[in-house]
Amino acid sequence: MRESSIKIIIADDNDETRKHLRELLSTHEGFTVIGEAANGLEAVTLAKKLKPDIVLMDIDMPVMGGLEATRAISVEAPMSSVIVLLVEGDPECLREAMAAGARNYLVKPVFGDEFADTIRKTYQLEAERRARIMPMVAPERKEGRIITVFSAKGGVGKTTVATNLAVELSKKPNRNVVMVDLDLQFGDAAIMLDTVPLRTIADIAREEEVDPEIVEACLFTHSTGIRVLPSPLRPEQAEIVTGKHVEAILSILAESFDFVVVDLPQGLGDISLTAMDAADVVCLITSLELHAIKNANICLELMDALGYDDDKVKLVVNRLSRESSLDISDVEKTLKRQVKISIPYEGKLVVDSVNKGVPFVVSNPHAKISLAIKDLAKAVTPQNKVEKAEAGSPSRESLSPSRRVAGVFAGMFGFFIHG
Ligand SMILES: Nc1ncnc2c1ncn2[C@@H]1O[C@H](COP(=O)(O)OP(=O)(O)OP(=O)(O)O)[C@@H](O)[C@H]1O
Ligand SMILES: [Mg+2]
Repeated sequence: MRESSIKIIIADDNDETRKHLRELLSTHEGFTVIGEAANGLEAVTLAKKLKPDIVLMDIDMPVMGGLEATRAISVEAPMSSVIVLLVEGDPECLREAMAAGARNYLVKPVFGDEFADTIRKTYQLEAERRARIMPMVAPERKEGRIITVFSAKGGVGKTTVATNLAVELSKKPNRNVVMVDLDLQFGDAAIMLDTVPLRTIADIAREEEVDPEIVEACLFTHSTGIRVLPSPLRPEQAEIVTGKHVEAILSILAESFDFVVVDLPQGLGDISLTAMDAADVVCLITSLELHAIKNANICLELMDALGYDDDKVKLVVNRLSRESSLDISDVEKTLKRQVKISIPYEGKLVVDSVNKGVPFVVSNPHAKISLAIKDLAKAVTPQNKVEKAEAGSPSRESLSPSRRVAGVFAGMFGFFIHG
């Protein structure tokens, strides 16, 4: 999103109208649609979460109508200006909308230039008004927490855990969360969130420089309010994304989000190692299968050798079931580490959640599996702000992750990998 770009939420229960408005906005410079709502309640929730500059608000909507939603936004999200969409010749409705706090109105059907002009003028007037009544406040620069979800073996539940963890973390008020899908070849976070992305991380990698505007422009907003940076649409596009891109993207996101949750591909590559180096927390996921535990052991040794402290690496057992011949104490004995969180196997619930594209922490917040994710969310949340500054990783300055891993393997196994 360009610096001057006006952030907009479209609230209308008609899919076609939302599509029409979105297309109309895309034909003009300087507008970014950051969210869509199909009723007034969704509009209020999104406005509080995403803090748009403008909300385009239909009047007749189910669940909560546009007038009530306008009233709520004026009070609960006062930095957002509502422009109501009215039917011609309804002065009474216009009067009520203005009394509810609407800053301007448009008459349906809306057309090109008048539409864009009204939005710009409303935005500028509001910006001037605010500049006069509010003291100058420097934009908040966050120190967001980067949480990577990793496993040495495929299919143990990284994406399931990462998606639900991101949504669970976002449930606390005044917290913004972004999820980054770094499974660049076969990422499926977007599918799990029932979205077909327009832009992906590959669009960032195509730019000459990674800057906050291009990163923001490639995020989509899920109905839960979390933002998502999707993986490329085709496996062959994965190649253009490098460790350097990943480093820059994560650092930019950590400056504007409270939590950056990163889904990783299986195994140790440049992308995973770069992300884990940058992370405050690495959730190492294993199942109760012998080969998954063996691979987790190798990864833990490597992470030790890389200098990740015990607090940074959280061991998580997923798909816990009574039918398994191994249990948590076997894992703890073998890995000589405490299992921080164990997540039960809940086949039907997880499959339903994936097929419907609704994270289970939303559809079944009281299920055991959701409570386990809630515990994980607590475990990855810092107790106080100081923690981040103190928990800095050991020196990692000049060596790239692959060179460092090569060095570590050399130490562990007595040989050196060239490259
Ligand atoms: N706790 C659980 N209970 C039941 N099924 C689960 C659980 N966790 C994950 N699954 C299922 O296991 C399968 C693999 O999960 P997921 O895709 O999250 O794993 P992954 O580690 O991301 O895989 P990949 O390595 O391919 O990226 C999916 O079918 C998912 O629905
Ligand atoms: Mg996955």
